[in-house]
Amino acid sequence: MRGFSDRAMAIQPTGVRRMFDMAGGDVISFGLGEPDFQPPQAAIDAMSKAMQDGHNKYTTTAGLPALRKKIAESWSPYQAGMDENNVCMTMSGTNALLNCFMTLVNDGDNVLLPEPYFPLYGPDVILCSGEARYYECLFEHEFIPQIEELESLVDENTKAILYNFPSNPTGATLDIQQRDALLEFAKKHDLWLITDEVYDQMVYDGEHVSFMGCDYNNILLINSFSKTFAMTGWRIGYIMSNNLEAMKQIIKLQYYITACSNDAMQYAVLTAFDEAADYPAQMTKEFRARRDLICQRLNAMPGVSCHLPNGAFYVFPKVEVQGFSSEDLAIELLKGGVLCSPGTAFGKSGEGHLRFAYTISREDISRGMDKVESVLIKLQEAAPTVI
Ligand SMILES: Cc1ncc(COP(=O)(O)O)c(C=O)c1O
Repeated sequence: MRGFSDRAMAIQPTGVRRMFDMAGGDVISFGLGEPDFQPPQAAIDAMSKAMQDGHNKYTTTAGLPALRKKIAESWSPYQAGMDENNVCMTMSGTNALLNCFMTLVNDGDNVLLPEPYFPLYGPDVILCSGEARYYECLFEHEFIPQIEELESLVDENTKAILYNFPSNPTGATLDIQQRDALLEFAKKHDLWLITDEVYDQMVYDGEHVSFMGCDYNNILLINSFSKTFAMTGWRIGYIMSNNLEAMKQIIKLQYYITACSNDAMQYAVLTAFDEAADYPAQMTKEFRARRDLICQRLNAMPGVSCHLPNGAFYVFPKVEVQGFSSEDLAIELLKGGVLCSPGTAFGKSGEGHLRFAYTISREDISRGMDKVESVLIKLQEAAPTVI
């Protein structure tokens, strides 16, 4: 047999899935990064109607103009003057990310990526023959990147920087000063700024702080309806930019990646905008109650401390038990009936952390936290005392 490509061999299976593979049937799962809600009924009905009406064909590569226009208008509080030409529909945020890296990255280029990270970023850059170079977003800094570290990583081969706020896995968001400092860094080094804002609708206190609308022509926004309308399985997202030259390249490549997005689904998302605009806010209200509950429970446990995340639906506490790595702890919790992800599934700086997705009911969160507490108390009691 002839071998496989170097790029296939360079990529490892994701550590998030590993815990799922080890889990038996009866566990309380904080593992899944998807809302436990269904898409709005209006969107489901519209999808079915669109199929009955014959919308089962290829669309233009960039997608349904009415939907693209609606998306551009929805961003007008941040950036006025955009229209359908600024938006390319994709078959998910995942597809949007790969398209952006394929559009920008050459062999020998490097891209600055956050760590802890959404696990697709690095492999995506490698698939494009680039180098993934990680900057840390640490607990001590409220998970916000430090400009000094970014300065130490950037060089003449750095093509782009990716920011992800609200963040998976930390739930961190930016304030305007932090956003502006990160923007200035990208500007100073003439970098493409890729901003993954798939959790833009899930912010708890204050408004979402976006890079859209910033005075810089090299910004590409990644977004998705997976979280916004609880449609993870539908696979629909988009890329948006005020740089029309970049949009031209992105749309050209999208043709060769998927030809276009799904016809009927685009009508369904358009309906969701029109008839279920408050759906994300309703979900966020519930996520906020769950966030408060899980953080209060975690912070009361021995060896655990967590920041109150201001966005997304993840909490990334520091969990310290002498002699246990984050993976050991995740395995011990699994034996105790709780599935969560070890921090190291999101990069080496996730050591000492666990990620809990609060995408289950408050009742299940309480039951799960009881189990976490009893496992941690047992481990702490058995742990050797440090002198
Ligand atoms: C930060 C981040 N970006 C992008 C995605 C991709 O979302 P999707 O491919 O479902 O649109 C996810 C999914 O979990 C994510 O957490």
